[in-house]
Amino acid sequence: MYAAFRSIGAYAPEKILSNDELTKMVDTTDEWITKRTGIKERRIAAENETTSDMAVKAAEKAIERSGLNKSDIDMIVVATISPDYFNMPSTATVVAHKMGLDKVTAFDISAACTGFIYVLSVAKAFIESGMKKNVLIVGAEKMSAITDYTDRGTCILFGDGAGAAVISATENKEEAIVDIHTAADGSLGDFLMTPDGGTGNPHKNELKAEASFIQMKGNETFKIAVRTLTNDVVDILKTNNITPNEVTHFVPHQANYRIIKAVGDALKFRDEQVVLTVAKYGNTSGASIPMAINEVYEQGKLKAGDLMLLDAFGGGLTWGSALVPFSPLTK
Ligand code: ACO
Repeated sequence: MYAAFRSIGAYAPEKILSNDELTKMVDTTDEWITKRTGIKERRIAAENETTSDMAVKAAEKAIERSGLNKSDIDMIVVATISPDYFNMPSTATVVAHKMGLDKVTAFDISAACTGFIYVLSVAKAFIESGMKKNVLIVGAEKMSAITDYTDRGTCILFGDGAGAAVISATENKEEAIVDIHTAADGSLGDFLMTPDGGTGNPHKNELKAEASFIQMKGNETFKIAVRTLTNDVVDILKTNNITPNEVTHFVPHQANYRIIKAVGDALKFRDEQVVLTVAKYGNTSGASIPMAINEVYEQGKLKAGDLMLLDAFGGGLTWGSALVPFSPLTK
């Protein structure tokens, strides 16, 4: 049995936070943000809109486009670092309940910006082992809830949104996900952290929101991201005897245009191969790759058989890449 990437869906909240608006909140300029990150605006969820609310909207689209029924889904895995509840219940169980799927396996994965590649690998493993048939994977983030809007080094980067995909069992090898690589280096965990509130640094008194905000060593993370991602992408292509030219869509995690450009240039990808949504959504962490795939899909540019190369890097530190043909049921 193989695992096939059947469909994609995404959701972006309505509210736009522009660079100009950020200049009123912190000491920054549109020019600095644009030049250093490529970001022009990002979406911000409504105050009462949760990560699971966004996940459900993306998931419903993905299921509708898969040609399957909701009741065919036998597992839901959500990648998030901004869950509805920090300990329990998991966001995946909340999503399952909101979708009326109370009997499925449901759990979350925490791998920051690499989350979608991690959940993709989990879906592939469950399907190939014969344990599940139709897995809904979701990357969903309300980053605005864990972002410090007085820290110009991080608040200019992050945005909210969700993306989802249906991964299904197939006997047809041509439809199969070719390969997935995931990795982590915990020795660099302090590069990207929400340091307080867990057992490593418990709250002594009442919970303080700012204690759970993201802290990042941006420049150090940047350098490691470029080196690691380039090596990882070169490696997965080489292992599978695939040339950059054979990749239809290079879908990198949308953290910073300069990181994407450096990796894209190293691989000599043509502009039309590189998927870019960073200007309009910023960094939506685990949601960024499925939101970017959805963008290509909704532009009518994602065709059956197209080969996608996904790659991501994030807190942990974690990173990963995947070679994924688009294999819809209805061609
Ligand atoms: N506006 C104006 N100036 C700023 C801003 C800002 N928003 N932010 C920082 N600066 C200043 C700094 O204070 C510094 O000033 P100094 O030279 O006087 O000290 C100068 O700009 C340069 O700062 P750097 O941090 O070196 O800037 P850099 O070019 O590295 O850009 C950025 C910062 C955009 C954060 C970049 O480092 C980056 O994108 N890092 C990687 C992020 C990433 O990929 N994270 C992983 C995924 S996220 C996740 O997993 C949740």
